[in-house]
Amino acid sequence: MYDFKPTEALAPQDLYRDLMAAAEALTADEPDAVANMANVAALMWEFLPDLNWAGFYRLAPAKAGPTRELVLGPFVGRPACIRIPFGKGVCGVAAQSRSTQRVEDVHAFPGHIACDAASRSELVVPVLRDGEVVAVIDLDSPSPGRFTADDAAGIEALAKMLSARI
Ligand code: SME
Repeated sequence: MYDFKPTEALAPQDLYRDLMAAAEALTADEPDAVANMANVAALMWEFLPDLNWAGFYRLAPAKAGPTRELVLGPFVGRPACIRIPFGKGVCGVAAQSRSTQRVEDVHAFPGHIACDAASRSELVVPVLRDGEVVAVIDLDSPSPGRFTADDAAGIEALAKMLSARI
């Protein structure tokens, strides 16, 4: 049994330090990308308060044609939309721009894709390998403005650590 849940309310830097240590330990000796994404989705859900969705979209072939798009990966939360083209929604914009999207109010984000009507704010961080996007980490919250610059920095560090492990 793994018991990686934080035991007390921690300051963001301590929370992300502990989340990172748990994710690093759980993925260190495991080459299977799906297993690693699944455990990290569960860890984000355990460690980070006030979420209604936490997980991954991977870059994968489109159903038809030569293009690649974001395809749903391991997550915790309600069933979500499966395929997101580059440039569409918060996830597609993060992937296309290779930059973190921290959205205080999803209703004000043009083209936001609502997978869960309860979502009010969102943080999407691309996972890069050799400069190319291989996945994005997506967090949703039912609270407006839930995600701070500390959250963005913490998830960016996690994405960097996971780059060669997913
Ligand atoms: N809201 C995302 C879609 C994924 S769900 O939030 C899980 C977007 O706009 O890309």
